[in-house]
Amino acid sequence: MIRAEAPAKLNLYLRVLGRRPDGYHELETVFERIDLADELTFERPPGSALTLTTDHPTLGVGVDNLILKAARLLQRTAGVSHGAAIHLVKRIPVAGGLGGGSSDAATTLVGLNKLWGLSMERARLKALAAELGSDVPFFLEEAAFAVGRGRGERCEPRTGLPTLWHVLVTPPAALSTKEIFDDWDRAQAAAGLTAPEGSLRIVEHALSNGSLSELAQWVVNDLTPVAIRRCPLILTILSRLHEAGCPVALMSGSGPSVLGLCHDSEHANVIADRIRRLDASWFVHVVKTAKGDTAVGE
Ligand code: C5P
Repeated sequence: MIRAEAPAKLNLYLRVLGRRPDGYHELETVFERIDLADELTFERPPGSALTLTTDHPTLGVGVDNLILKAARLLQRTAGVSHGAAIHLVKRIPVAGGLGGGSSDAATTLVGLNKLWGLSMERARLKALAAELGSDVPFFLEEAAFAVGRGRGERCEPRTGLPTLWHVLVTPPAALSTKEIFDDWDRAQAAAGLTAPEGSLRIVEHALSNGSLSELAQWVVNDLTPVAIRRCPLILTILSRLHEAGCPVALMSGSGPSVLGLCHDSEHANVIADRIRRLDASWFVHVVKTAKGDTAVGE
């Protein structure tokens, strides 16, 4: 049996540069891997069947689940008929802007590559990851931070950045990435907006210095206004994090998760306690940068 963690990601910066002819959107983003993770186990039963079970009460475990899509893609690409029984312990909120499903898919590629003894190289796994979804390749990077371009699948790792501490808040709502991007198209057409001038370099500089005050001025997530229209709680949580003492609060991905950047673990725990008292239905976690490669152990 192989056991592996599938960590969540945050987007510390996300600009939408425009809609592409293929319907996707050209992005400029900063990914950060964090220490909130799903857990996957892989076993090899006799035969070629791929099965998925989970402790999550409502998550679909049929052919549309990205874990099974990843398993089938690897089976097909490697030309093998090995089977797998996969079990998922879900800890990352579903459809929360944290990349949980994408991370599960990436970990499945790595886990089954090992279980089936395929010895497929990381570069080849990354190409398969990009077929599965825009966020999937990031989870095959060794660095905890990366700049993502294209659909988000073209990752440039950033090493040597300090560990960050966050309070992560997810309201009990799920947002569809596709619907948020569709809303962004409509808002863009109505307002005739053009993407603002780039501030990625300043954000990278602030990250390398660990300067939260500089970050506070420059972080941005262009999807925030349209996500707030579907889920006004995002605006409430952003305000509450500021009021509780976070110098920077930002929505992650297409929402609705919101992160507050904190100075250290103690600061994060104080703010998390304040936020927990406001609404018991919010998922509130203290998380930090997850350094090191995706763990795959036996
Ligand atoms: O790549 P992925 O399958 O995760 O994307 C889900 C949906 O989000 C896409 O079908 C597309 O509608 C939208 N999307 C986008 N531009 C991106 C990433 C995702 O329009 N860069």
